[in-house]
Amino acid sequence: MYPEAIRIIKDEHFAIAAVLHTLRHLINEIHAGAEPNFPLLKAILDYIVAYPDHWHHPKEDKYLFAAVRRRSPDTEALVAKLEREHALGYPMIETMKQQLLCYQANDPGAKEDFFFTAVRYIDFEYAHMKTEEEVLIPLAESLLQPEDWAEIDATFLENDNPLFGIKPKEEAELLYQRILELAPAPIGYAS
Ligand SMILES: [Fe+2]
Ligand SMILES: [Fe+2]
Repeated sequence: MYPEAIRIIKDEHFAIAAVLHTLRHLINEIHAGAEPNFPLLKAILDYIVAYPDHWHHPKEDKYLFAAVRRRSPDTEALVAKLEREHALGYPMIETMKQQLLCYQANDPGAKEDFFFTAVRYIDFEYAHMKTEEEVLIPLAESLLQPEDWAEIDATFLENDNPLFGIKPKEEAELLYQRILELAPAPIGYAS
């Protein structure tokens, strides 16, 4: 049976890619002369913090990467590279948040700084997800045993349904809805 954890990771990559695509689209529009939509740019950064940063990457590190590493020490270089990319992504988002504030305040050069980091982050994150889908996941499928998947799947499914508090997935959904409310067509509903 196809592991649930892989299905969940691919679904999450799809959602992250959609938001990154929106960010790239907005940057292109601003380059073409559109006024910046600051609430929307802020909503996108909030989403990236809540979803890939606080939710998706830690789950990969803790369960999937750990299991792959356990089954085959030969995967060390690849797993370490992907973990390092997770770690490198966090400060980039923090930088982008600061740069967005400066851009909104009209600081000299802040717009270019924000665009520079945002485009780097988008390319970086796409390349990271591509390596996971094309290299790490196929390796995991060949290396991991049914008992590994049983444990990883259970954790991923349980993480999707926490018993109390705000559900991380629910929070991400709310933030995604906010992006759609703020984004004009064809991406969102705003006019
Ligand atoms: Fe990742
Ligand atoms: Fe991922």
